[in-house]
Amino acid sequence: MTKLDRTYVTEAKYMLHGGDYNPDQWLNRPEILEDDIRLMKLAHTNAYSIGMFSWSSLEPEEGRYEFEWLDQVFDRIHKNGGKIALATPSGARPAWLSQKYPEVLRVDKNRMKQLHGGRHNHCFTSEVYREKTQKMNRILAERYGNHPALFMWHVSNEYGGECHCDHCQNAFRNWLKEQYNHDLNSLNEAWWGPFWSHSFNDWSQIESPSPIGENAVHGLNLDWRRFVTDQTISFYENEIVPLREITPNIPVTTNFMADTDDLIPFQGLDYSKFAKHVDVLTWDAYPAWHNDWEETADLAMKVGFIDDLYRSLKQQPFLLLESTPSAVNWHKVNKAKRPGMHLLSSMQMVAHGSDSVMYFQWRKSRGSSEKFHGAIVDHDNSTENRVFKEVAKVGQSLEKLTEVTGTNRPAKVGILYDWDNNWALNDAQGYGLETKRYPQTLQQHYRTFWEKDIPVDVITKEQDFSSYQLIVAPMLYLASKETLARLKTFVANGGTLVMTYISGIVNEHDLTYTSGWPQDLQDIFGMQPVETDTLYPKDKNYVTYQGKHYLLKDYATVLELNTANSEGIYKEDFYANTPAITSHSYEKGKTYYIGARLDAEFHFDFYSRLIEDLSLQPAFSVKHGKGVSVQTRQDKEHDYAFIMNFTEERQTITLPSKGTDLLSGDELEGELILNKYEVRVIKAPRNS
Ligand code: GLA
Ligand code: GLA
Repeated sequence: MTKLDRTYVTEAKYMLHGGDYNPDQWLNRPEILEDDIRLMKLAHTNAYSIGMFSWSSLEPEEGRYEFEWLDQVFDRIHKNGGKIALATPSGARPAWLSQKYPEVLRVDKNRMKQLHGGRHNHCFTSEVYREKTQKMNRILAERYGNHPALFMWHVSNEYGGECHCDHCQNAFRNWLKEQYNHDLNSLNEAWWGPFWSHSFNDWSQIESPSPIGENAVHGLNLDWRRFVTDQTISFYENEIVPLREITPNIPVTTNFMADTDDLIPFQGLDYSKFAKHVDVLTWDAYPAWHNDWEETADLAMKVGFIDDLYRSLKQQPFLLLESTPSAVNWHKVNKAKRPGMHLLSSMQMVAHGSDSVMYFQWRKSRGSSEKFHGAIVDHDNSTENRVFKEVAKVGQSLEKLTEVTGTNRPAKVGILYDWDNNWALNDAQGYGLETKRYPQTLQQHYRTFWEKDIPVDVITKEQDFSSYQLIVAPMLYLASKETLARLKTFVANGGTLVMTYISGIVNEHDLTYTSGWPQDLQDIFGMQPVETDTLYPKDKNYVTYQGKHYLLKDYATVLELNTANSEGIYKEDFYANTPAITSHSYEKGKTYYIGARLDAEFHFDFYSRLIEDLSLQPAFSVKHGKGVSVQTRQDKEHDYAFIMNFTEERQTITLPSKGTDLLSGDELEGELILNKYEVRVIKAPRNS
């Protein structure tokens, strides 16, 4: 299956609502399993992920299988109209497997062999584990592949982490041989071998990076991370061989993640590569709503950024595969979602392109570490508690959004995110060691578009640039000549490009460019950066732009102008009165360079001007104040505008035209009030 259409998940075109269901934890409580079916209807759920951690229930000892319980679950759910995403169980394995085949256990970066326990901790190279998982997956596909309830394969669970065992070291060396055409000299060159005497004269000397060994060779670090991505994908590809063979029409996915302290894209694997191997992109979102360090709207903006990135990876709707009905169990403070937030946060995912709202977890377990993690069904088994009712309301709301399923979100603005670049920047021993914050910086550039409801795709370097009017590529420290040439073509053909400080510094091996800034960048920007100053937190400097002074932090670049125009100048220090911001026309397009890290006010003013200059429009122009977000999905005839109040206050908004609120059924026009956390989904005929 390549390009998927509206029907990619179910024959019916409707929003999925449900979640991770672990009936194997309740096999000795048949009355609970019966009751689940009753409760599923009351919760307005229709889809369940089953079996991601069921290996010890499916194969309690090697070669002895027990499927009756799963047969019954399939039949029971099917009889009641539900759909199943069947998981492959490789995310956790039974003790007998680790005991008999210790090579499946990971070795960590300190070269410490891990014991059996936990989950998500197998070696991705182990032949034994590849064989065992494939065998299990084949049996599952043979048994359930034709079951009418099966709608998707949920392969493993949240792949991540790395293994440094001997098998992985060998696989890494083989991977390197392929990358460098079996030429050790070219590897030494790419890794800047003579530095600290780190040249190799035999492939067997190469080891993965380690705190007790090599950790200063940046080319090695970068290649290791690329290898970890490729090896994880190769493990996944091995898992899905029988699924493709036996069930070619069932979509295959694995659930992606985010890094959650700051809510940024997951850094462990290059999802731009992984996305090519899944039929539908799915991810697990756990923002810490109501935290005490940021405004609700700030967090909502960050969620929107990740949604826009993950959706853009496949340029099609995605599925929210996990979220929590209320609190999680692993934030430092596990705060309950306040009334209304569950509907709002769920609708936000749909607004950005999700065709589902799914949860971890259906029912709270009685024991072990997730017994207090939010669930649809609490320990009280009640339909009367607040969380259950709010989940049911989301289910009812999704039922009213059936026609939104499969609709798109076209965008004219692309913000460029790159995993290689993030890794290289995190490695870079230079600038400020703690202030680079690449993903967070991108979110700051994204903010104005989010606030002004301008649709954005967060794109990656190998995607087609030609459909965008504007590309914003902040802190693109690592960029291959090929990427730079593609950006140049984009500008030459009439695109507008914004770049910032710390860009175009190293190539794809993390080797710096020499003899000045890369020529392609000099051509399109009409200038070159000559020195980057790093500031202490107490240092004060400003950039004057359009008559206003904006505070700068962390980074200031001194520029040497050729044909560029100065748009803003530094106020203090040895570079006072020299250009900080430039613009330049190149062939049919235009570029802007922002030399310093500036504050939110600057971003707002700068991008507001650009939005106006380029006549960028929201898909649906609602007038509203700060903290309200309007995200619009579209089909040929309609706009579906999700108007969301991410503030704790009532907000007055004005609709541009008549529309129907799909959630309430109200016909609306003109001014209306949105209460705290209220959301409306307006359907209106498309005006363009
Ligand atoms: C020490 C070392 C040098 C170099 C510098 C960097 O002085 O001797 O090789 O690493 O630190 O500041
Ligand atoms: C992840 C996992 C789930 C569960 C949740 C808890 O997303 O995939 O199994 O542990 O976290 O938030």
